[in-house]
Parts: sequence; structure tokens; C-alpha cells
Amino acid sequence: MKGLILSGGAGTRLRPITHTSAKQLVPVANKPILFYGIEDMVAAGITEIGIITGETGAEVREAVGDGSSFGAEITYIAQEEPLGLAHCVLIAKSFLGDDDFVMYLGDNMLQQGLEGFVSRFELDRAEAAAQRLDGAVADPSAQILLCEVSDPQRFGVAELDADGHVSKLVEKPEQPRSNLALVGVYLFTPAIHEAVEAIEPSERGELEITDAIQWLIDNGHRVRHDVLDGWWLDTGKKDPLLESNRRVLETIETRIDGEVDERSQIDGRVIVEAGARVIDSRIQGPAMIGPGTTVERSYVGPFTAVAEDCMLRDSEVEHSVILRRATIEGVPRLTDSLVGRDTQVRRSKQRPSGTRLMIGDDCSVDLE
Ligand code: TTP
Repeated sequence: MKGLILSGGAGTRLRPITHTSAKQLVPVANKPILFYGIEDMVAAGITEIGIITGETGAEVREAVGDGSSFGAEITYIAQEEPLGLAHCVLIAKSFLGDDDFVMYLGDNMLQQGLEGFVSRFELDRAEAAAQRLDGAVADPSAQILLCEVSDPQRFGVAELDADGHVSKLVEKPEQPRSNLALVGVYLFTPAIHEAVEAIEPSERGELEITDAIQWLIDNGHRVRHDVLDGWWLDTGKKDPLLESNRRVLETIETRIDGEVDERSQIDGRVIVEAGARVIDSRIQGPAMIGPGTTVERSYVGPFTAVAEDCMLRDSEVEHSVILRRATIEGVPRLTDSLVGRDTQVRRSKQRPSGTRLMIGDDCSVDLE
């Protein structure tokens, strides 16, 4: 079994961060989102992994390398334009060959690993093979993962027939007929190649994976489904990204490898990485302070991940993700925030007083 991770795309919903970098490399608990997907694949025994890249391909390649640090062998497949999830399968055909594969959206995060998902498919296939002797059941050609959601209009949605089999898939339906959203993890047999070649682009100009799976169903293939246990988040927007960060930080254990002076107080589960310094400050976990970061006369509250080489001085920050080399100085309360790389947020003593901004396109600033 091979793996295909989709790490191209436009990332419009995470601008301005994605003006300059790949959304799949935004850190959750100080680790790029994409790494969680690669690690899940390797944990499920899938080590031959193809990664689809777009405009940010160089950055993704630099971060992941040849995969040896994950125990995987990575093949990069460049997609010239984000022409859809099924287009990714189309251009990965020579890498995938005749193998089954798990396709994973590189900006999705799942609590559950992939082992159960893969083994249930294999078990079903073995059972189908046994029953086929009686001519009863066809092998499954694909497996999708579904999750009950309250806002199915935002997702690809699956409808099940009276026997509980997947009968119809609709991309972002206006009038959803089920609340079962498609999670960004799929398992395909080589039957999918014929499907992605047969379908036409949708109204939004993309080759939709939902259309390809529908093609399988319409052409007599069996598509099995699995219902998710645990949480799943599509991190492509700020709030779900902060939620992923919160979920992962909830699982950390305390580790203090950096310096914490005697005037500082650490409460709850906190990681202070080697080379970080906490001076006259309070850290209330769960929180992480990255290597080379200084926290001085500040409060870092729950669910905050501060990446490497940042400076927090005379500030209070909570429920936020702070990317590398950011400076936050004299800011009384920063919350629910995503702060990009090399950013400076400062209280200035300049007169006349006022809010002075130098912010890029597609930013959003909520003043107190
Ligand atoms: P999406 O989040 O659906 O699309 P997007 O990245 O274009 O984001 P936005 O809607 O904010 O503009 O994509 C899911 C994942 O698949 C994501 O990791 C990007 C990746 N992808 C590709 O690699 N190629 C593609 O053609 C598309 C559409 C997505």
C-alpha cells in the first residue's frame, strides 16, 4: 500500500499566512501539520509516500526532505495548478502504479491513526473474497471516512441507502440530505484511475474526488465507509487551526529543557525547549515555548504554542499560535491569534498615541 499526501492547493482561506508559505507547514503544537499526516502513514506501515506540491513546493521539499527522518521514502509530484483532488490522483498515476493507496489531505488533522482504517478495508476485502465463492459480494474498490457534522453545507457529503451503503456523494450541497461529511482520508484501489480519467471538471473548474467516487458507485463498484472515532479538523482556516493546536497541546507532558529563572512560575503541562529562556514570567499550561525563544515579564496562558526564536516581553498571550521569530512586546492581552513569521506586535511610546499598522493583504485585526 502506498500513500499520497496532498500538499498543493491555493490556501486562500488562510491568507495572509499562505501568501508567503504553505498552509500545510503551519505548526500545530510547534510541528508542521503535514508532519502529523506523514507520521500517521508511517505508523500504519505505509512508507512509500508521494507528496503533491504546488507553488510552495520548494518549501515543502525543504521541510520534509527525502523522508528518511520519518522512516519513509518520499516522491514529490508537482501540480502546476490546483485543479482538484482527483487531478492529484491523475498526475500521481505513474507513482501509484497498480498499488492500493491511502490519500490524505495535507491540511487535515485526525485524532485516530490510520491503522484501523487500513485494516478494516483489508478485512472487508478478505471477507468479500471468501463470500465471492458464493458469488455474493463484490470487493470494495474504495473506502471513505465519514464524520457527523452540524454544518454539512461546507463539506463533501455522503448519502447512505436503506442498507447503509454509500449511494451518493455531493460536494458542498446547498440542501444536504445527510450530515455525514467526507473526512480528508480515502483509500483507493487502482479502480480509481479509470474514474479520474472519466470525469469532467466541476463548475468551479476542479476535478472533484467526490465525482470520481460517484463514478465508481455508478459503475458498479462497491465503496465502503468507515465512521470516524475521535476528532477531525480541516485546519485550512484560523479557528480550526487554533482548535487543532488546543487538541494536541491537551496531550503533551511537561518537559523543561530550557532555562526557567527562580522568579518564574510554571503551572500545568508545559514544554520549554532547550535554548528557550523564561524570565520573571508565568506559563500556564498546556503550552509550549520553542527553542531559542525568550519570555520575559510575561504571561503565556493555556493552549499557546510559541515557535522558535520568538521574543515575548511585558505581554500576555493565550490560546494562540505564534510562528518563528515573532516579537510581541508590551501587549496586555493577545488571544485567539495566529501570528506569522518575523512579525512584530508592539506597544509603542510614540506620540501622538495611536494604532500604527503595517499589515499585508488579507489580514484581519480585531482591536480590543
Ligand atoms: P482545500 O483546502 O480544499 O483547497 P485549497 O488548499 O485550495 O484551500 P482554499 O480553499 O483555502 O483556497 O485542499 C485540501 C488539501 O488538498 C490541501 O492540503 C491542499 C491540497 N490540494 C492540492 O494539493 N491540489 C489541489 O488541486 C487542491 C484543490 C487541493
